[in-house]
Parts: sequence; C-alpha cells; structure tokens
Amino acid sequence: MTTPMFNPLVAALIDALADPVILVEGQRLMAINRAARDQFGFRLANSDIRLAIRHPRVLAAITAAERASLEVEGLGRADQPWLVEVTPIDDDVVMVRMIDRAAQRAAEKMRVDFVANASHELRTPLAGILGYAETLAEDGAMDEPTRRNFARTIESEAKRMLRIVTDLMALSRIEADRFVLPRTQIDFAALIRKAVEDNEALAERRACVIATDIEPDIPAVRGDEAQLLQLADNLIGNAIRYGCGEDCEKITVTVRRSGRDRLRLAVADKGPGIAPEHLPRLTERFYRVDAARSRNSGGTGLGLAIVKHIAERHRGTLNIASALGTGTTITVDLPIAR
Ligand SMILES: Nc1ncnc2c1ncn2[C@@H]1O[C@H](COP(=O)(O)OP(=O)(O)OP(=O)(O)O)[C@@H](O)[C@H]1O
Ligand SMILES: [Mg+2]
Repeated sequence: MTTPMFNPLVAALIDALADPVILVEGQRLMAINRAARDQFGFRLANSDIRLAIRHPRVLAAITAAERASLEVEGLGRADQPWLVEVTPIDDDVVMVRMIDRAAQRAAEKMRVDFVANASHELRTPLAGILGYAETLAEDGAMDEPTRRNFARTIESEAKRMLRIVTDLMALSRIEADRFVLPRTQIDFAALIRKAVEDNEALAERRACVIATDIEPDIPAVRGDEAQLLQLADNLIGNAIRYGCGEDCEKITVTVRRSGRDRLRLAVADKGPGIAPEHLPRLTERFYRVDAARSRNSGGTGLGLAIVKHIAERHRGTLNIASALGTGTTITVDLPIAR
C-alpha cells in the first residue's frame, strides 16, 4: 500500500469518521484521524505505536496484525469503556478503530435497573395477593367482616398491579412512537379545560380548588390528543395529590403563549415542594420522593416519566421548579402548529 499519510483521499476518509481511527504499519503509526488526535492527543511525531498506545492488550492485538475486536477500559480516561477493532487492510497495514462504549454501557445499566425495579414493583402487590388468598383458602372459621376485608385487599393490590402494567404499556407505546411526529391539530385550550374537568372530582375529595388561567386565542398544537390529555392529567393529578393540603387549598393551571412559536402549560401548587436532591431523578421510572405516601395514594412512580416522554415526542420541553416550603411549578413548552 502506498503511504496513506500522503494520500489525501485516505486522510480525508478517516478524518470523516467520528470514531478515533489510526493506521499502523508494523510498529509505526502512519495516520491519525481528527477524532484520535482530539480524544487521545495522538501525534505523528511520536510515530512509534508503543509510545502512543500503552494498553498491553490493545498493543498486542495491533502488533499481531490480525483481525481482532476487544472491549477494554483504561484507554485514555481511566474508567471509560472502548471497543477496539483491529482490521488488517493489506499485508503490512492495520486499521485500528476505537468505539466509545460509555453511552451503550449507561443504556444497558438503565435497562437492567428498569427490569429489576419493574419486577420489584409488581412482586410486592403479588406477594400480598398470594398471602391473603392463601389465608382465605385455609381459614374456614374466618368471620365475615375479616373475609370481606381480605377480599378487598386482594382487589386493591390487583388493581395496583393493573395500573403498573397499564402505565408501562403506555410508556412503551410512547417510546415506540418516539420518532413519529404526531400530526393531528389539537385545540390545546379545550384539551386543558377537559383535563381540569376530569380532575374536578379528585380535587373535591381533597378539598382542593383548581384555578385555571387560559389566555384567549391560544393557537392549536400538533399532537396526539390522548397523550397530551394524559400529560396534563398526570401533572394536575400530582399537584392535587402532593401539592394540596391544609394551608394550600388551591392549584393553578395556566396556558400562555411563550415566545413566537411556543405554548406554555404550567401547573403550579403551593404545597410542601420537593427537595433539590430529588429534582433530577423525578422523571426516572418508579422514582418517588416518599414511596409510602405515593403508594398509599395509588401512585406508581411512572407519571412524570410518561410526561417526559410525551413532551419529548411532541418536541416539547419539560421543566420542574420546586422548593421546600414554597411549592412546585411544572411547565411544558410545546411548539405551535404551523
Ligand atoms: N406537585 C408535586 N409536589 C410535590 N411532590 C411531587 C409533585 N409532583 C410529583 N411529586 C413527587 O414526585 C414523585 C413522582 O411523581 P410521578 O407522577 O412520577 O409518580 P406518582 O405520582 O408517585 O405515581 P403515578 O403518577 O404513576 O400515579 C411523586 O411520588 C411525588 O413524591
Ligand atoms: Mg403522578
């Protein structure tokens, strides 16, 4: 092979690759693409490969000059994982491509955590159902009120499981449609009024008042009606459940234009608020600030995860502002339909 270093086409080709790539002939570094220079500080001046790459396994694979693919850490930053692919491209020259695995590792961890959390969340009510069902089956002398009580508990635990499964299915449907932009024109002001109406009964039970402040002539958004309704319903439901109480019996739902091409939905309460350390994790699946309290009020910890995914699918943004003692305001900005 002619020296690729001097071949502008080869140099341009490897420069165009986003991953760090080097070409090695024997022990000599012959070409380095831009990403390898930027990420590892490789320089041709140090043209001995042993000076550039100090990782023993990677070095051995390169000098063996055979096709190899290895997962390594400690190439560059200490704990960063890389997939290194060594490909012989003619008798003397090998191409070494380094693929950053950090994002993939993080995604894998998220998937593993999610399966563990979902199993745990389903197992807890299931264990309860089994326990009560066994007692009902075995205790023939049980009095009627106790029997009824056990049956009710089984029913409510089963309902809880159904809620979790329904929410998980909703979440996976939204994720599956992530790249499909919803097309229907939605009268957003009317949709929000409907979401408020749907929550009136819950508000009444909690002695909470929902105040609405909807700007006139709110333009339409392009969206999925059921999803946007679910988004608003989750936020209003949360404000009533967690932000309404003795000294804060009112929540506010606002819809306004935001800048030239966006709308802003804000759901605000003056409840106890959320401590700052919880804020970044609120949209994680199953994350709850006070698990027992949320569970008692029927919460699954999936509501805000669903809100986040629906907002993203609509090219919107979600913002959570909260402080202990002052309350919580959650805003969603959505693009206006053109
Ligand atoms: N307005 C709010 N004020 C205080 N805490 C809130 C508020 N909204 C949400 N939270 C906290 O954030 C947690 C996560 O909310 P999220 O809606 O995701 O789950 P959930 O309400 O527990 O369950 P789900 O919505 O699935 O029924 C809640 O458990 C609650 O602790
Ligand atoms: Mg909720």
